[in-house]
Amino acid sequence: MGKIILTGDRPTGRLHIGHYVGSLRRRVELQNSGEFEKIYIMIADAQALTDNADNPEKVRQNIMEVALDYLSVGLDPEKVTFLIQSQIPELTELTFYYSDLVTVSRLQRNPTVKSEIQMREFEASIPVGFFTYPISQAADITAFKATTVPAGEDQEPMLEQAREIVRKFNQTYGEVLVEPSISLPTNETCRRLPGIDGKAKMSKSLGNCIYLSDTEKEVSDKVRQMYTDPTHLKVSDPGHIEGNVVFTYLDAFVKEDSFEKYLPEYQNLDELKAHYEKGGLGDVKIKNFLKAVLEEELAPIRERRHYWEARIPEVYEILKSGTEAAEKVAAATLTDVKNAMKINYFEDPEWIAEQEAKFTK
Ligand code: TRP
Repeated sequence: MGKIILTGDRPTGRLHIGHYVGSLRRRVELQNSGEFEKIYIMIADAQALTDNADNPEKVRQNIMEVALDYLSVGLDPEKVTFLIQSQIPELTELTFYYSDLVTVSRLQRNPTVKSEIQMREFEASIPVGFFTYPISQAADITAFKATTVPAGEDQEPMLEQAREIVRKFNQTYGEVLVEPSISLPTNETCRRLPGIDGKAKMSKSLGNCIYLSDTEKEVSDKVRQMYTDPTHLKVSDPGHIEGNVVFTYLDAFVKEDSFEKYLPEYQNLDELKAHYEKGGLGDVKIKNFLKAVLEEELAPIRERRHYWEARIPEVYEILKSGTEAAEKVAAATLTDVKNAMKINYFEDPEWIAEQEAKFTK
């Protein structure tokens, strides 16, 4: 059987460069590798609602933003099936049956959900839907028999949970579901890109993001404000690399030919870092270099975005036809699941024959 990709994002805002280096860039590579039989990319609006019940309009408005972000990074509607989660009721049905295979204490141990609960200050008022979203995510993945989930490091606990559900299901009811594995970025830095303020993670709620849809001027302003090394006051002062966001982003974005193109007096990043640590290299210079490196990556993305922004009805069709095609696949899996569980009474001649025999003396 061929390899299948399923992955997605919650539409709670535009996607940023953390999403890009953490997952989107890899998705495009995988798409172009030709190794995959099918690629499904899902806008996880139902999951987004699990902690936005009071703000469905936010989710509704961001569906198109995320679709445009997908198309603008180079995901190709000829190669990828795009879908909107809430429009596939089979996913909800699978979630309900999988819920019977998962304990509350297992969910409580999920480190990503734990930290999200803390971040949102839910304390005693955690929505049940939010608490159980790892189960729904297992449904998303298994509905498409996905083998591979390209995602950021924070999704690892979800994948672990999904694999447990698959094993439990297959042991209990028979081999129906496929165990998925995560595909992480190979570059360590890309797994958790910090915000421009140096805070743990780029996140829209912290207001420290560079968005894929930012203009050149917005990117440039953000790089100018970027956190570097507060002890590096004069150019001649020795500087620190650790925790210095400019260097972190360079680690994530520099390409083999970046120096040759934009900073030919250095051979590579190690040399640049060494000079910075020694002293004599100013922040303005490294920031200008970062700007050029970022711009090279972001300019074509911005251009593709403009192309698709002028074709919204076409994007709508891509989403609609993708969702319809995806629903057929999810429905086939649901049928397999219900057959395996023997909850297919009206398609199961054995059941009625058994019942008849039982009640006919
Ligand atoms: N949890 C992902 C996010 O936070 C979105 C998502 C939902 C997802 N279902 C998925 C990712 C299935 C990968 C696979 O953005």
